[in-house]
Amino acid sequence: MSLHGKTIVVTGGTSGIGEACAREFVARGANVVMASIQRAEGEALEAELAAVGRAKFIPCDVSDESQVQALFQGAKAAFGRVDAIHCNAGAWDKGTAEEFNEAIWNKVMGVNVKGAMLTAKHGVPALRESGGGVFLATTSVAAHIGFPQHAVYCASKAALEALLRCLATDYAGLIRVVGISPGTIRTPMLAATCQGWDKPVEQLYAEVAEKIPVRRLGEPEDVAKAAAFLLSDDASYINGTILTLDGGTLALPPW
Ligand SMILES: NC(=O)c1ccc[n+]([C@@H]2O[C@H](COP(=O)([O-])OP(=O)(O)OC[C@H]3O[C@@H](n4cnc5c(N)ncnc54)[C@H](O)[C@@H]3O)[C@@H](O)[C@H]2O)c1
Repeated sequence: MSLHGKTIVVTGGTSGIGEACAREFVARGANVVMASIQRAEGEALEAELAAVGRAKFIPCDVSDESQVQALFQGAKAAFGRVDAIHCNAGAWDKGTAEEFNEAIWNKVMGVNVKGAMLTAKHGVPALRESGGGVFLATTSVAAHIGFPQHAVYCASKAALEALLRCLATDYAGLIRVVGISPGTIRTPMLAATCQGWDKPVEQLYAEVAEKIPVRRLGEPEDVAKAAAFLLSDDASYINGTILTLDGGTLALPPW
């Protein structure tokens, strides 16, 4: 599962799952570029990781094409090549159809779907220049579950999974395209989804954990270890596959 010497671009690499992935990849000897809209967090993480390995933060809004283009130019300028992309940046919002507005659509679809398409558009040429590589995206079990009041988020993740299958066939032989579909992972995004309930977040987490077959929430490091495997050459025959990482949630019978 070596990532030694590979240059990996992680979008949303400064919080939650993406941050854990950046830490894991650096620990395994990769050159890691973290990209996100969190400038302060990114600069702090770069300083911390650059002390133990090779890491660079590049500010980037993945829904803005010129910034995504600049991201890959910056990654090549920093490390000379791009071997893998972890398309992980994600945005979340909730509301019923009657509460829907363009701002919610543009934020959630703009990051989760358009952002992924732009990451592929500008990432694929960078991978081709390196002779090929891996494109990994963080999808969600939300692609397959109708979470109450989450129509736009769920639709965005279903669209992302469809996009991955198409990329896997379009670039087969050059780029391996894979996904990780997490269940309930303890991150700032999960905490945000728990705001506004009549219970403290930790109590909600405990109640949710009881409903997950393995009786715990997922940790960002659980995702990072799986991501490291999927990006490594040990996964060289895995293409077009989306790995569910949910402690058995989707396997649970509905009664
Ligand atoms: N936490 C969960 O339970 C869970 C479950 C399934 C899937 N996911 C997915 O995992 C991914 C990471 O989420 P997380 O839970 O770590 O949340 P998080 O909020 O901790 O991290 C989200 C990251 O995306 C970045 N981001 C948001 N908008 C961006 C934009 N316009 N351009 C660039 N970066 C942007 C943020 O800066 C942050 O670094 C997301 O795609 C999310 O949908 C999370």
